[in-house]
This record gives sequence, C-alpha cells and structure tokens, in this order.
Amino acid sequence: MNLVNRNLVTIDDLSNGEIEALFTLADGMANSLNNQAGLCQGKIMASLFFEPSTRTRLSFEAGMLRLGGRVITAVDIGASSLAKGESIADMAKVVGSYADIIVIRHPWEGAARVVADYAGVPVINAGDGSHQHPTQTLCDLYTIRRERQSVKGLRIALWGDLKHGRTIHSLIYALARFGATILFCPGPGLELPEHVLRRLNTEYRGELKKCGNLNQEPEQTLFPIDAIYITPGSPHQLAMLPDVSLRVELKAGVDALYVTRLQKERQAPTVEEQELKKSYPVVDKKLLRGKEFKKTLVMHPLPRVDELTHEVDADPRSMYFKQAAYGMPVRMALLALLLGAKEITIPEKKDSFVRKTDYPAYKRDAGVNCPNINCVSNQETEVRYIKPEFTIVSREPLILRCIYCEHELYPRYVASSDWHEGKLENKRYHSADSHFARKIKPENLIIFASENEAQAQQFKPSSYVRQ
Ligand code: CP
Repeated sequence: MNLVNRNLVTIDDLSNGEIEALFTLADGMANSLNNQAGLCQGKIMASLFFEPSTRTRLSFEAGMLRLGGRVITAVDIGASSLAKGESIADMAKVVGSYADIIVIRHPWEGAARVVADYAGVPVINAGDGSHQHPTQTLCDLYTIRRERQSVKGLRIALWGDLKHGRTIHSLIYALARFGATILFCPGPGLELPEHVLRRLNTEYRGELKKCGNLNQEPEQTLFPIDAIYITPGSPHQLAMLPDVSLRVELKAGVDALYVTRLQKERQAPTVEEQELKKSYPVVDKKLLRGKEFKKTLVMHPLPRVDELTHEVDADPRSMYFKQAAYGMPVRMALLALLLGAKEITIPEKKDSFVRKTDYPAYKRDAGVNCPNINCVSNQETEVRYIKPEFTIVSREPLILRCIYCEHELYPRYVASSDWHEGKLENKRYHSADSHFARKIKPENLIIFASENEAQAQQFKPSSYVRQ
C-alpha cells in the first residue's frame, strides 16, 4: 500500500495501521540514516515556517536532504507576499507549482487545511495555531513504542497548558485511538477545551471521570489531577467505582508524563502572564520521587521554559531529547511515503482506528461564522474565498463543528429552506432546541447567528421560539 499524494493535516488523516507501518519504516531509517540518499532525488520540499521552530523545521529539512531531495524555505510572513495581503490559497497554488511537497507551520488554526485544499501536492501540517501538530504526535507515539512496545493500556498524564497546546490536541486523539488511559493535569484555567472533551466522548467512545478533589487530602502525594479519561482499551469497571478506586488506580503508577510549556503567545491579552506563570505546575526531581512515577517516561515536545527543571535531564526517565531526535527518522519515513518513494504493508488487525463519522455538512453563503477568532475562516485575507463550513455533529442539542479549526458552535435559531409550501406565512424561524427544529432535514437547515439576522432575511418567529 502506498500513501502517495496524501496530506497529513490532522492525526486522524492516518489510520492506526498506517501509523504502525510508518514506524516500521522509521525503524529502518533510524538504523541507516546515511544510506537513504537515493529515495527522493530530484524532489523539492517547500518548508514554510511562519512561526518559530527549531525541531520540526530542521528535522524536516535535514530529513529531506538525507533522502537526497532539496529544500526551498520561507520562515517569515513579513518576508513573503502574505505580508502584502496575498491569501493562503494563492500562496499554496504557487508554491505547489514549485515544490513536490509542502510542510507548513502557521499561526492560524485551519491554515494547513486551506494549503492542502489548494496546493495540488501533498501537504504536512507542522502546527497550525492551537489546533494540531500531527508529526509531533508521530514522534511522541514512536518514542512510547520504542520504550514500552505498545500504547494500549498505558496510563499517560498530560501536563500543563492543555487549552492551547497543539501537541496535546493531536496526541490526545491518538492516545484514545491506541487505547491509553489519559489523565489530565492542567495548569489553572488551562483545561482541555470543551469541544475536544466532547469529541473524545462521542467519537472515541471514551468515558470521562472527574476527580478534581483527589489531591486535597494532606497525606497523599499525587500530583494535581483534574480528570481521568478512560478509553475503550482500559478497564471500564473503573468508571463505575467511587473516587477512592481512582486513587488506587493512580497509585499503580503513571507510564508517561507528557509535560508542556505555558503557550504564552496564545493567551488572551487580558490574561496576566505573571499570574499564570506563578501557578503553572512544575515537574522536578522532587515530584518524580513519588512512587507513582517510579517507571514514568518524562516526555516533552520541547521547547521547555520553566515547567520542567534541567535537573531532570540526567534522569534515565527523561525522554524529551530522544523524542526530538526521533523526529529525523519519523519525518524521513513520512516524506518518503507521501512522495511515493516507499510503500508500506499495513499490519493485519492493527487498523482499529475509530473511523471518522460521516456527519452532514453545513455550508451557506451567509449566516454563522466560526466562533474561533483565530480560525483561518475568519481572517480578512481569507474571507474573500472561504465560506464558513461546518459538519453537523449533533442534532440534540444542535452542534456544528468548523471544518477548519474543529471548534464548535451551538446555534440558537434555525429555519428550513423548505419553508414556503407556497405560503409566505410559513417563512418562520425556530429555537434550535425546539421539537420542530429537530425535524428539519440537514440539507434544508438554515442557521442564524441571531434573531435580528433571521428577521433581516424576512423570517418571522414561530411559536417554537423561546423568549
Ligand atoms: N516540538 C516542536 O514543535 O518544536 P519546534 O517548535 O522547535 O519545532
């Protein structure tokens, strides 16, 4: 099987079997990094990094050179024609005519998806705002697999800025897919976004167990923990037991502690950075003395700032420099596959990915926009050609998911485009949670951002509008 011409925009673009097969190829590359120069000769990779990067950019570029290919690069929006107001779509079409593959990092969520839609060559998302960083997830999973053989059944704690960390957002879905139990240890106010939690519950069949008070007993030494997410791969009976059993479960040990820095560049301007820094949880030697960390892999996507002390570097449990080093063979394997230089065999019975649900689409010329101001679909240069587009992920309650950044929207007012039946008085709008609204077929659904908008389009309130 080959992955030629595929994109990697989110981690769900690869199945579990494809990830496993990619890792087998990476194992081979890791053993002979200097003998791969024949694979991508004559190919050009465009490396577009519009946010700072050390590891991702340089491992992709060095990887392409080791594969015998060449690299063209742009690292500053201000030095590209984006600064003159060019759209991402136009840039993608042009760069796609110069290069055989594009690697893009951009501060807007969903930007990589737009590049993939327009480039005409394979596109790899190297991080789009707070959305996802799927190749970091590949490095993370590869590290766990090298150290522990399998992710299934492991207890993995995610630490720090779970709200803005794109490495967290792509890793969490992968961990759920591979059957890990996930523990959340966020900094104050930096909890996992509601839409990510909901998706874990609805699409990965996970169960969330809140245990926020576990760390309040003076005698216990557990690290701060907000919630446990239990995947189908873990014992379900845990979810039915009282909190005391969760404590027992945690004391059984944490297999990996995935630490992330405070993403200060993504905080709202109103948030006081000094306050956040003061209360941000730190991983140090003292914490790691706890029994629950005896065999813990200490992971970090890097760069680190103050959240992981340098004294941990000498500890054999520290994995973060290995994670960064594995970026080379993992990204080389990915480039070779997407450029058609290598083929893979998918291991039998390994393809257990919870398949993406085929939700109905919602796309109209006017009306609701994505609520995420950092979404590519809300940017001045992009609204000229991008129409807000959503999938309808739930009818009760009505929930739309932006196809670019995956943020969710909870509309309050809807109508049916099939309103008339020849009678103007039937042109009515309804509360989205009303019995009538739920009967509207997805293809007829019209969603309004407000009652004013509905009335501006000559719809009148029905008896199903709640005041
Ligand atoms: N982990 C990671 O993405 O590092 P860089 O920002 O240095 O690429």
